[in-house]
Amino acid sequence: MEALSFALPRMPFARGLLIFLALCVPACAASARPALIPLPAQIAWHDGAVRINADTRVEARGEAASVAANLSSQLGLKQGARGGSRIRLTLVPASVVASPEGYRLRAAGKDIAIEASDPRGLFYGAQTLLQLVEKGPGGERTVQAVEIDDAPRFRWRGLTVDVARHFFGREALIKIIDEMGAYKLNVLKLHLTDYEGWRFEVPAYPRLTGIGALVDGQPRYFTAADIREIVAYAADHHIIVVPEIEMPGHAGAAARAYPKYFNKEGSAFNPANPETYDFVRSILTEAARLFPAPYIHFGGDEVGDEVWNGMADVERLKAEQNLKSTDDVEAYFGRRVVAIIESLGKRPMAWDEQVDANAPKSVVIQWWRRDKPEVRDAAVRNGYDLVASPADQLYFDYPQGPGEPGAPWEGNKGGPQSIGKMLAWEPVPDGFTPDEQAHVIGIEAAVWTEFIATERYLQFMTFPRVLALAEIAWRPKGPRDEREFSDRLAPHIDALRAKGINARRGEGDAYEFITN
Ligand code: ACM
Repeated sequence: MEALSFALPRMPFARGLLIFLALCVPACAASARPALIPLPAQIAWHDGAVRINADTRVEARGEAASVAANLSSQLGLKQGARGGSRIRLTLVPASVVASPEGYRLRAAGKDIAIEASDPRGLFYGAQTLLQLVEKGPGGERTVQAVEIDDAPRFRWRGLTVDVARHFFGREALIKIIDEMGAYKLNVLKLHLTDYEGWRFEVPAYPRLTGIGALVDGQPRYFTAADIREIVAYAADHHIIVVPEIEMPGHAGAAARAYPKYFNKEGSAFNPANPETYDFVRSILTEAARLFPAPYIHFGGDEVGDEVWNGMADVERLKAEQNLKSTDDVEAYFGRRVVAIIESLGKRPMAWDEQVDANAPKSVVIQWWRRDKPEVRDAAVRNGYDLVASPADQLYFDYPQGPGEPGAPWEGNKGGPQSIGKMLAWEPVPDGFTPDEQAHVIGIEAAVWTEFIATERYLQFMTFPRVLALAEIAWRPKGPRDEREFSDRLAPHIDALRAKGINARRGEGDAYEFITN
């Protein structure tokens, strides 16, 4: 200090700078807020901080206990009523916190209180708290005084992982579930079947996995026990796991196993064979048994006009049922599948081609064809519930920056699928009436894996884009600033990488995956 004051008079600029830094850096540091993703709906920061130390206790009763147990283990704290500062988790009536996924969080003095009317809200409050905890240079932990009132914008905040094209097993999914929960996503959809593979066991039809799941001669699929484990782990994170079982198209793996239920090319189910529906019922019954989620997605996309050409039994079906076109046949098949799914007590879900096929209005439509906004609009106008997954913004197989690796086909309109492009997207168009708006129940991204063969690359394509997905899905409608988001994102990328998740930092991280 003395040496400094001796030297400074001869260096007026440097002295000015030092004085500025001495005064300003602590103030600036104090005003830097924890980088929350997704940003809560309402947040008011206050002076002061709650200290968290070995004496801090986590208190909860009744249904709040499991959230409290997870939170105390993540923070390394004991549960109980005594101690210095305390973290209280309380279930309150819906008159206090209306949204079952919403919560109130208050941190002041020696108290952190999270209140919610449902364990889901408590869980989300706990996730926010984990992001609020700051570590000082000596390792001491504090939570800045704050009042947060929060609830999600959309009730469906989803991610599809395609485990059919390349198989990703339980361990890979568990890591994804951890992060989905931490960022308040609540639907994991598994694309379980496609041309390349069939990935879950159906005891009545063992060749589905015996033949359909082979990768280099080895079966790669989820056993019933794997699925039970994944589903239970996801449930602990308030995530439902929705099975997607593709039909009538995208069905090559099943066709290799049981060709008699398929067209000649082995690409689509045969809607004219009555036994096809017994086969479908067995498959869907097993899916309904394994996955407790209230939805079954039956695909229904990209059937093609010629799949049933030249099939005498399909021509007979058309004559009998007065079906004029392939679309009509597809619609007939779709209605029968919907009836089976509903008879199993589940709600059907399908890609937006099923709007063209005039599927029953009970089907949740997943809009993906970015070049067909009129199909999205027609869906909500006609009373379908809709999950928006436009390929331009939410397909995580597409490149993230210029020259970066990714799927080569459509979806790169307007440039690579960067976080900036995602944040600039508004899921509910301005012209929608309140009723139409209410039919947009959420958004879902998809990481398709035709070109993704390793978990490291899967993570690179998924993280950190999935955090931008969470931001869009949770935060109230309004402008999003890419710069502000990327400042908030930076420490999350570091934290993900510190956990061993290969989150992309920038284009430099892409080189490893460029193959030509
Ligand atoms: C899709 O990408 N065919 C849903």
